[in-house]
Amino acid sequence: MSDPSTPTPMPPALGARVLAVTSGKGGVGKTFLSANLAAALARRGQRVLVLDADLGLANLDVVLNLHPKITLHDVFTGKATIAEAIVKAPGGFSVLLAGSGMVEYSRLTPEVRDEFLGVIRSVMPNYDVLLLDTGAGISDVVLFAVSLASEVMVVATPEPTSLTDAYAAIKVLATQHKRQHVRMVINQTARPGDGRAITSQLQQVLDRFVTTGAGRSVRLIHLGDIPVDPAVREAVMRRQLLMVNAPGSPAAMAVTELARKLDETVISRADGTGN
Ligand SMILES: Nc1ncnc2c1ncn2[C@@H]1O[C@H](COP(=O)(O)OP(=O)(O)OP(=O)(O)O)[C@@H](O)[C@H]1O
Ligand SMILES: [Mg+2]
Repeated sequence: MSDPSTPTPMPPALGARVLAVTSGKGGVGKTFLSANLAAALARRGQRVLVLDADLGLANLDVVLNLHPKITLHDVFTGKATIAEAIVKAPGGFSVLLAGSGMVEYSRLTPEVRDEFLGVIRSVMPNYDVLLLDTGAGISDVVLFAVSLASEVMVVATPEPTSLTDAYAAIKVLATQHKRQHVRMVINQTARPGDGRAITSQLQQVLDRFVTTGAGRSVRLIHLGDIPVDPAVREAVMRRQLLMVNAPGSPAAMAVTELARKLDETVISRADGTGN
């Protein structure tokens, strides 16, 4: 087993592209994005599995209103198979939920690492996209989950605290994991163009202060923005997917556009470089 600080992205040859959704600060919209992006990608014909990679504090089940009897917890403890723990979500994709009782897995022990890796390896051949909904911040479990992904999406809001934390997280990904590029999703924007401006400001700071191992700066790729939209909160309160509840809302249309971009640049791209 490799050192958790060393990135071991899954090669595309094994099957699904592994995409991590992460953030510096909590509560910025990772789970909302993971679930709705999965629905948008499923609509485009992709076979998608969302994995609750926020082992200690998972809440994908809450957003999707699912109450599975079998979860990752049972897989980790050998009580169930992975196939038994995979559930169909309303948006036409599959989910693997952590469930409560995973608190003991919120620390990255060698066992947790092996179990996690085993689960990802075994589901990869059956899907086109594996979305890892991770926790916020730079804990070892989050960094391990992110290290397995071939592409990382960092979600941030325009708030200064979110941007400072995004900077800190990207710095770790660049310096410890030697990530060459990171895709930015700016959520809860007020005006068109905000996300692009924020991304280029962050890029300028990174260029000044952070280099990857090769002496290069990490490159931020602006994937897109999602506007602040009351329909998001309404969908969460109803425990429904925005893509199902309000597919014509501005935020849902933005997620549809993100899915299109991701599909065309990363998922369906033959060389898998996404560049
Ligand atoms: N574009 C948006 N417009 C309005 N509200 C939003 C938007 N995106 C997210 N929210 C609100 O933010 C809340 C938190 O989102 P979410 O649970 O997806 O964050 P998270 O990053 O997964 O949090 P955690 O770090 O705790 O896992 C949502 O329940 C919703 O009310
Ligand atoms: Mg979440």
